[in-house]
Amino acid sequence: MSGIPPLFAQSFAPSAPSASSVSGEVDAIFFTLVAITAFFTIGIGVAILFFAIRYRRRSPGEVPAQVHGSTALELTWTLIPLAIVIAVFVWGSKVYFHMNRPPDDAMTVTVVGKRWMWKLQQPTGQREINELHVPVGRAVKLVITSEDTIHSFYVPAFRIKRDAVPGRYTQAWFRATRPGVYHLLCAEYCGTDHSRMQGRIVVMEPHDYEAWLAGGAPPESPRATGERLFTEMGCATCHQPDSAERAPRLAGIYGGKVTLTTGETVAVDDAYIRESIVSPVAKVVKGYQPVMPTFQGLLSEEQILDLVAYVKSLPAPPVAAPAPGGPQTKSRAKGTKS
Ligand code: CUA
Repeated sequence: MSGIPPLFAQSFAPSAPSASSVSGEVDAIFFTLVAITAFFTIGIGVAILFFAIRYRRRSPGEVPAQVHGSTALELTWTLIPLAIVIAVFVWGSKVYFHMNRPPDDAMTVTVVGKRWMWKLQQPTGQREINELHVPVGRAVKLVITSEDTIHSFYVPAFRIKRDAVPGRYTQAWFRATRPGVYHLLCAEYCGTDHSRMQGRIVVMEPHDYEAWLAGGAPPESPRATGERLFTEMGCATCHQPDSAERAPRLAGIYGGKVTLTTGETVAVDDAYIRESIVSPVAKVVKGYQPVMPTFQGLLSEEQILDLVAYVKSLPAPPVAAPAPGGPQTKSRAKGTKS
């Protein structure tokens, strides 16, 4: 659990209320650790002082009685600390797993860090900068990445902090428990205006949130943007949704596995789709040639997220429709990987 020092500072500040479903758990661990540390620090300090005075040399020629070990004492100072650290480990792991496993019903918000702003997008498509509106009580999963350098998405009131790393999708989730406005900060030094890379999380009652979503021009959903980009960028030239002739079929692959030319099997998740767009030759699907050009630099991170959303949404083709001449049966396919 990184970030203890800022948490320490913030926990005592009125600006960091406890406002998510995990903040109470995190605080409980944190303050327990502070209490254990304080107990031993004070106890050892007092013991040092006490022994120094109690057993001081009283005459110039005094030779103290020699003590040669005590099994009972050594077992005590080994087993008690062992029990304490194991208990802290088990407790900490439990909270850690809770914090790192988004519930299945979570709504997904994408976060792109960029010097020096946070760009966020609602599942329905609304884009926000340095501001995120969420309904109270609803699990919100964050898929976080960066367009340039490493940033860190930090919401003290929710006790979440997650690095935004270029080329990688990191995840975090929270369930806000109280309506209000909370600080959003960047917690990783990222250049000149790092200290100004801040924003706010606006937690609203569900009906207020619905009203907020309904205001303004209806946005294009990430999936719809992805579909448009799929055509505009020429992906559709090779990746026909219903054909595996020139390139691997994309429909229905998300969440499954594909076999690569190396014989390896990889899971098709957000990270794999992203990699296949920016460095297509890294993991080529079996039966295809590495002929797809890279789209590195041609698409923004947000556009890549939109394309991922589109590929994710493609339904699996009806069963019993194997393309005759599919790549697994004949090796004449000259397509590319997904
Ligand atoms: Cu972004 Cu510091």
